[in-house]
Amino acid sequence: PESADSTTAESTSPSGTGATSKGLDAEVARRRTFAVISHPDAGKSTLTEALALHARMISEAGAIHGKAGRRSTVSDWMEMEKARGISVSSTALQFNYEDSVINLVDTPGHSDFSEDTYRVLTAVDAAVMLIDAAKGLEPQTLKLFQVCRHRGIPVITVINKWDRPGRAPLELLDEIQERIGLTPTPLFLPVGIAGDFRGLLRRGEEGRAQEYIRFTRTAGGATIAPEELLDVDAALAREGDEWVTAAEESELLSATGQDHDQELFLAGHTSPVIYASAMLNFGVKEILETLVELAPPPHSRTDIDDHEREVTDPFSAVVFKVQAGMDTAHRDRLAFMRIVSGVFERGMVVTHAQTGKPFTTKYAQTVFGRERSTVDSAYPGDVVGLVNATALAPGHTLYTDKKVEFPPIPSFAPEFFSILRAESASKYKQFRKAVDQLDSEGVVQVLRNDIRGDASPVLAAVGPMQFEVVAARMKAEFNVEARMEPLGYGLARRTDAESAVELGRQRGVEVFTRSDGVLLALVSDKWRLQYIQKEMPELTLEPLVAAA
Ligand code: G4P
Repeated sequence: PESADSTTAESTSPSGTGATSKGLDAEVARRRTFAVISHPDAGKSTLTEALALHARMISEAGAIHGKAGRRSTVSDWMEMEKARGISVSSTALQFNYEDSVINLVDTPGHSDFSEDTYRVLTAVDAAVMLIDAAKGLEPQTLKLFQVCRHRGIPVITVINKWDRPGRAPLELLDEIQERIGLTPTPLFLPVGIAGDFRGLLRRGEEGRAQEYIRFTRTAGGATIAPEELLDVDAALAREGDEWVTAAEESELLSATGQDHDQELFLAGHTSPVIYASAMLNFGVKEILETLVELAPPPHSRTDIDDHEREVTDPFSAVVFKVQAGMDTAHRDRLAFMRIVSGVFERGMVVTHAQTGKPFTTKYAQTVFGRERSTVDSAYPGDVVGLVNATALAPGHTLYTDKKVEFPPIPSFAPEFFSILRAESASKYKQFRKAVDQLDSEGVVQVLRNDIRGDASPVLAAVGPMQFEVVAARMKAEFNVEARMEPLGYGLARRTDAESAVELGRQRGVEVFTRSDGVLLALVSDKWRLQYIQKEMPELTLEPLVAAA
């Protein structure tokens, strides 16, 4: 199905065909691929709309993102997202900003989908950490930040909702410094306290005020907020004490070394900070400007043999997300790949590294929310959805000409376990098909052993909401009613065939094979684990990658 509901090619696929003549180097240099990491409600959807508005992708804020009520969602399990007010799906939005091409990759908001978020973050080169000015750092922001740190992703901080009463600007910076050890280096400081957002002071050399960007409100923030640029003297005359305070704070920050340093930022030691109001479109242009000026363009990626795949090498891409049932009309399945090297042309035949088989890319699309459009060509940093790519799973590599395989994306340590049973034995074939499908998409981990047999596999998840997605999708897409019974284990450890026999004899332990072949020992609780480790230190019980 070739995008029956696609929007015009210009509006969602700005890189278009015309760009091919510019040369690969230039295309890479003008690309920025990033994700917004935030705690639910910090304003991610609002900011996404505001960024797209500034880039003139849409005419009025509120038109693109699947916010409940604004636009109807398309599939049954998206109904679930809507009911819960959370975003489960991850897709990518592409837009032009001046001469740059920006790829904004959406991350799921709820912590139960942290494994998904981790996969998405393997596809970006930078992150925007969005913080609510009144709430400061929240649990999910902290967890996602740890993922960025682990992956060496540079982080730009945006303190949002400055139009509402909140904390003092420097207090928020101290919190970032103290709680996550990242040195905040504001590029702009707000003029006016939280709740009285007048504009931004642009910091120059040694924290000296460089200019004043004064904002004017528009009705409901629905159009681009007009800004007025004032020099330092005019700013003082205009804002008086509010300006003086901001200017003093700026110098104070310099005295403690909180000035932007590109190398330290890219190394993940510092984070440029911007104060904004996504709702009023204040500071949004400055966020785009910062992304373009400071965030790194796509760069080489290390393969499983420790070689670098340079961006100018022949085409290669990594699948980071597979999603089915996004569109009930099509019942299709999309594999999202991030292009690592070379030029992608729709219709080209690529090799699927995991199977060695050829793969045609006739139906390549960009997708955001329910909008789809056909992609004709794409460059490193871009995200392309491949329709009905059943063999592809997260972590898989596609390439042409020069063989390459990138390291797999690690699975997280599951903490929730359930036995899955089909309600009706007559639907066993469908049941089996559904389980395999959801397993390969990485919706949930599927564990099996000889004792339990195939008819009742064990599902392992990082968060219990993953189970709800499984049940909803089995019903909607496969017409299978399934039951889940919680299984009394609390943690999983990686083991090996030698240890498995002895572990199988222990109380509170059961050994399973995960579909990737890894042997997992499920253990009732940490005390049982500690006991076994103490009594039988020769047994292999390795921790898995902890959930973000
Ligand atoms: P999320 O995707 O991170 O979950 O957040 P979302 O954008 O949905 O924003 C959460 C709430 O915060 C929304 O209010 C939104 O309007 C509000 N908000 C976002 N940015 C700003 C901002 O800069 N200033 C102010 N004052 N509010 C902001 P809501 O009442 O939940 O929804 P709605 O009725 O406004 O749509």
